[in-house]
Amino acid sequence: MLSFALIGCGRIADRHAELLSSGAIEGAQLRAVCDLNIEKARKIGERCSVPFFTDMHEMMQSENVDCVSVLTESGSHAANVLEIAHYGKHIVVEKPMALTLDDADAMIAACDANNCRLFVVKQNRFNVPVQKLREAQEAGRFGKMVLGTIRVRWCRTQEYYDRDSWRGTWAQDGGVLTNQASHHIDLLEWMMGDVESVFAKSMTALVDIETEDTAVVILKFKNGALGVIEATTATRPKDLEGSISILGSTGTVEIGGFAVNEIRHWNFLHEEKQDKDVLEKYSVNPPNVYGFGHKAYYEHVVSCIENNDAALVDGFEGRKSLELICAIYESVETGKEVYLRFAPKLCKLGRE
Ligand SMILES: NC(=O)c1ccc[n+]([C@@H]2O[C@H](COP(=O)([O-])OP(=O)(O)OC[C@H]3O[C@@H](n4cnc5c(N)ncnc54)[C@H](O)[C@@H]3O)[C@@H](O)[C@H]2O)c1
Repeated sequence: MLSFALIGCGRIADRHAELLSSGAIEGAQLRAVCDLNIEKARKIGERCSVPFFTDMHEMMQSENVDCVSVLTESGSHAANVLEIAHYGKHIVVEKPMALTLDDADAMIAACDANNCRLFVVKQNRFNVPVQKLREAQEAGRFGKMVLGTIRVRWCRTQEYYDRDSWRGTWAQDGGVLTNQASHHIDLLEWMMGDVESVFAKSMTALVDIETEDTAVVILKFKNGALGVIEATTATRPKDLEGSISILGSTGTVEIGGFAVNEIRHWNFLHEEKQDKDVLEKYSVNPPNVYGFGHKAYYEHVVSCIENNDAALVDGFEGRKSLELICAIYESVETGKEVYLRFAPKLCKLGRE
């Protein structure tokens, strides 16, 4: 049985705590929680019947845990992981893993040096429709890749951004691309392959924040295909969709719903027996934009640690979508097409 501690008892911690304390994840249990705000720590600690702390080091010294989940503000992930890594425990870190590539590199190096595994939460990769799409892509069913599109049309009002001072800031959060769309950007690259270049425009349309609430990006992939990212939290009056569509010379798939869970189109030139089932069996739109993937994600983490298997999203894989996001911001700042790999110069993400 692997024991977990949580650092950060905010909004997303509820999901982690519930899964780890309810027996939903075989082979995993919640051992302790920590938040700088004692009331938040107490709430989850008491609900899950585990000790709660306000200092992560006190928690680490008092509780012998196997894994630590870092669920703090995005801009704090790197510092928290660096602080925890020397305890030699495996680390799960929420997305985005960090806000600068230097921080991501330091996290990977610290975990390697201390012999601990680093897992970046990208739970949408575990949505069953997404897994089916990936299987089709790996089997070459799309033929020549033509166009990959993601659309994130969610609603985040001023009230959402005002709830916590870190939201919508360059230093701690980033905008819709870094926060809400980072899952979809990760999926796009996972399906379409490495990106050659990006050209982007963004704006802050409907709320008063430092970062963008709306962005469009044109991508060129190394395999010659093109891509489009349309990401906004300025959809009103409510969430509309989080979707990915992949078009190739011999197939088209679109997965939509709020959180990339509903297969809308599953068309292949060369049909296979199981194709008929796919639309009916594997689509469930979840009640909220987080989706169902955290359960499958934790099951994957446990299985990777127990069997010493490679993680689907380790530090290097998490860094990849961060590099892409930084390149998109660099394009916004320069007004130019940005070629990857690249070293950020004007990208504001992760800077005061
Ligand atoms: N995977 C997903 O779908 C998903 C969904 C929501 C949020 N997230 C990510 O989870 C992270 C947290 O988001 P949130 O909405 O829960 O934020 P939040 O502000 O609700 O919670 C963050 C908590 O961390 C605590 N904290 C900060 N520094 C700490 C420290 N040193 N020790 C202990 N506690 C500390 C804060 O007091 C706060 O309670 C963000 O990186 C966000 O991008 C991921």
